[in-house]
Amino acid sequence: MKKNILLYLSVTAIITICCSKHEVIPDPVVVETKGLKEVSPFPFGASLNISLLKSRVLYQNVIRKEFNSVTAENAMKIGSIHPSENTYYWDDADYLVTFAKSLNIRVHGHTLIWHNSLPSWVTGFQGDAAAWEDLFKTHIQTVVTHFKGSVTSWDVVNEAFNDDGTLRSTIWSQHLGNDYVARAFQYAHLADPDALLFYNEYGHEYSSAKRTAVNNMVADFKARGIPVHGLGLQMHTNQNQTDANLIEAISTAAQTGLKIHISELDISLNQANNQSLVLTDALSALQAAKYKVIVKTFAALPAAQRYGITTWNVGDADSWIRSTYNRPDWPLPFDDNYNRKPAYQGILDGLN
Ligand code: G3I
Repeated sequence: MKKNILLYLSVTAIITICCSKHEVIPDPVVVETKGLKEVSPFPFGASLNISLLKSRVLYQNVIRKEFNSVTAENAMKIGSIHPSENTYYWDDADYLVTFAKSLNIRVHGHTLIWHNSLPSWVTGFQGDAAAWEDLFKTHIQTVVTHFKGSVTSWDVVNEAFNDDGTLRSTIWSQHLGNDYVARAFQYAHLADPDALLFYNEYGHEYSSAKRTAVNNMVADFKARGIPVHGLGLQMHTNQNQTDANLIEAISTAAQTGLKIHISELDISLNQANNQSLVLTDALSALQAAKYKVIVKTFAALPAAQRYGITTWNVGDADSWIRSTYNRPDWPLPFDDNYNRKPAYQGILDGLN
């Protein structure tokens, strides 16, 4: 009630000032209350860090306000969720699912099979081909079954290709053979036939060989009846990437006819690892322009193919880029205090 009165008084004050000067009356209240989820015709989301979600009110508030899709940044990876052979740790991922349910927003699962973030029981696993197949299938199906009905979609396999388009040699390919990617999709589909299954990859914007490899894999899957519903384009990019490459990445993936998820978007401003770099208006403007190109290109896809755009975490201080590369960087649409940056305006401009 008190809040409403204050709102009324401030709007009245604005009207009084504007009318006395015969100016057009702006509507700051409406602009202020809309989040990305309200202005975007497709789901807009972010990956979330569960300890931040549990502990930081500002973080929770911006998520509540802006997003209608969430991904666990780490909590559903095998190293987090399946720490030893006979132990699953569900708490953090369940926390995310409960949070999303309370807001009635979508949860995208990331990621069932990846060569990174493996627990030592997997890297040290001793067993014949049948034992490896059992490990692989059991992991996929236990996780998918646990979240059946709560997680709408999965990154089934993440980053299976090298930049030159060849299949990456990983612990999975070595023990399961090159067709493990297809079997991962089959196992996931058997566990939850309603889940949408994505192949997630990076580098579409700089490697035409990778784009081709991914599209060839999709064509092969379709020909063989392997269930695949979408492509995740991670899109960890930077302000120097050309518009042409960003557009090519999205449009080539869309040629498959599958759903497209810009799944891990961030735009680094300091690829050179300059330790004394400071954020300038010029850099912010370049970043905003790149966000705009990506969002605009995505928004032009057929509605049925627009699975959504997910940024990789929320505020600049939360980004994996700072901690991984130990450098100043500002890759996300919100600053360290969760204020909207020019990049946020770039997103809005891409939606208009
Ligand atoms: O939780 C532990 C903590 O207990 C420990 O003290 C600390 C010491 O290093 O590590 C913490 O774990 C880190 C974890 O992030 C949580 O912060 C891991 O070391 C670190 O390797 C891990 O990095 C994640 C990385 O994937 C590897 O799993 C990043 O947060 C995450 O943003 C990144 O995400 C990947 C996508 O899954 C796939 N695409 C690329 C993307 C960026 O690399």
